[in-house]
Amino acid sequence: MATDLIPGHRNILFLMSGSIACAKATGLISAWRKAGHAVRVAATASVSEFVGRATLEGLSGEPVFDDTFAPGRAMDHIELARWADLVVACPASANLLAKFAHGIADDAVSTLWQAAWSRGAPLFVVPAMNTHMWDYPATRENVERLKRWGIHVLPTAAGDLACGETGAGRMLEPDDIRARIEGLLAHDRTVAGRVLITGGGTREPIDAVRYIGNHSTGRTAAVLADALADRGFDVTWLGGAVAQAPEAVEDLERYESFTDLEAALRRRLETESFDAVIHAAAVSDFSVAGIDGNDPGAAPSHGSPVGAGKIGSGSAMTLHLAPNPKLLPQLRGWSRNPALRVVGFKLTVAADEAGVNRAVQRLFAGDACDLVVHNDLAEIGPARHAYTLIDAGGSRQAADDTRALATLLADALATTPVGPRADDAPLRQAEARET
Ligand SMILES: Cc1cc2nc3c(=O)[nH]c(=O)nc-3n(C[C@H](O)[C@H](O)[C@H](O)COP(=O)(O)O)c2cc1C
Repeated sequence: MATDLIPGHRNILFLMSGSIACAKATGLISAWRKAGHAVRVAATASVSEFVGRATLEGLSGEPVFDDTFAPGRAMDHIELARWADLVVACPASANLLAKFAHGIADDAVSTLWQAAWSRGAPLFVVPAMNTHMWDYPATRENVERLKRWGIHVLPTAAGDLACGETGAGRMLEPDDIRARIEGLLAHDRTVAGRVLITGGGTREPIDAVRYIGNHSTGRTAAVLADALADRGFDVTWLGGAVAQAPEAVEDLERYESFTDLEAALRRRLETESFDAVIHAAAVSDFSVAGIDGNDPGAAPSHGSPVGAGKIGSGSAMTLHLAPNPKLLPQLRGWSRNPALRVVGFKLTVAADEAGVNRAVQRLFAGDACDLVVHNDLAEIGPARHAYTLIDAGGSRQAADDTRALATLLADALATTPVGPRADDAPLRQAEARET
């Protein structure tokens, strides 16, 4: 019998769809209940063709949510989504995979899934279907799509199917599903480390009331910080004066100018031990070094202190900008932990492949970065923010949004450079437990 790897008492939202594997999936509900976790079941209409509501209610000890519009249950889809610590769709039919991958929310299960997605709880899909349905191109694409969004889609087993055919598509056995899911969760927690994330823009003072800034909102860093905290990382956030702050992080510090950020980074890295820095801040390339005014009374003369007083209006002046030193190549040198892993960001503007490669390579040069997140202004819109995560060996992984990027980063940072963390890690843990 599998050892319980999910720490404490957890709330498991169990979503079922119409498959011959429904009966087998009930074993998982019993196992988690016996291990002391709370399980709430939501089911599609066709589930009742395979396993009765009384069985699901008896096993979970709670009413089954299968009707979004049932009297008195109108808010269940939001409340259950809030309640869940993890969400497991098991069995997931071809139809349910398609709904998840295309944003269709036309029943209790698919509506609940979308409501749960934004809560940040880990999401697992356990497919079960006939081998031809599993091989169908749309199903293949749907599976890839869900994985790209950071959703854990478990593999299927090859073997004899209920329909008399043989091949892939068969749902994994309950013990195996449990070992994989718990292994993934435990793995997330045991190897997640301490991460420092910077986000948002700097403000370069001109006088005491004016500054040079940029349009960065800090949203990417905030979403990454929350997602990594949810994955068990101990996160510290350094954010710009008006940057969006993460909600799940307690260790928060704000900076104003380049100099403040540089000092905060240096102090943190020298005095605390971090496993990684994700440097997503939009740092000004220049600081104001001096100001020349046509009217000596209106503007401080060149060389006078910047950032003080208030420059008078109405007359021309010249700002002298001096380039700021790059922070990325200095981080490892400041770090108490010499094995610090550094993640840099590179934003290009409608760059072609060669241009992107050149820009990214500059960040890897001199071992400044272990990983680079590339994004291009042309691919950022209100509904989509595409990224590519690139490692020093040149391998690339695409993410369609910040949450999916967080999953890629969490997986990459939970790995030490020498210890591979492949998708088979939970399997290896399960094997280790069985021997
Ligand atoms: C006996 C039987 C077994 C089925 N098993 C599966 C299955 O394992 N996987 C699957 O995707 N569909 C299976 N189906 C078809 C689905 O139940 C059907 O596509 C249904 O519309 C799915 O709806 P749902 O996703 O809302 O539950 C099966 C149908 C029957 C009659």
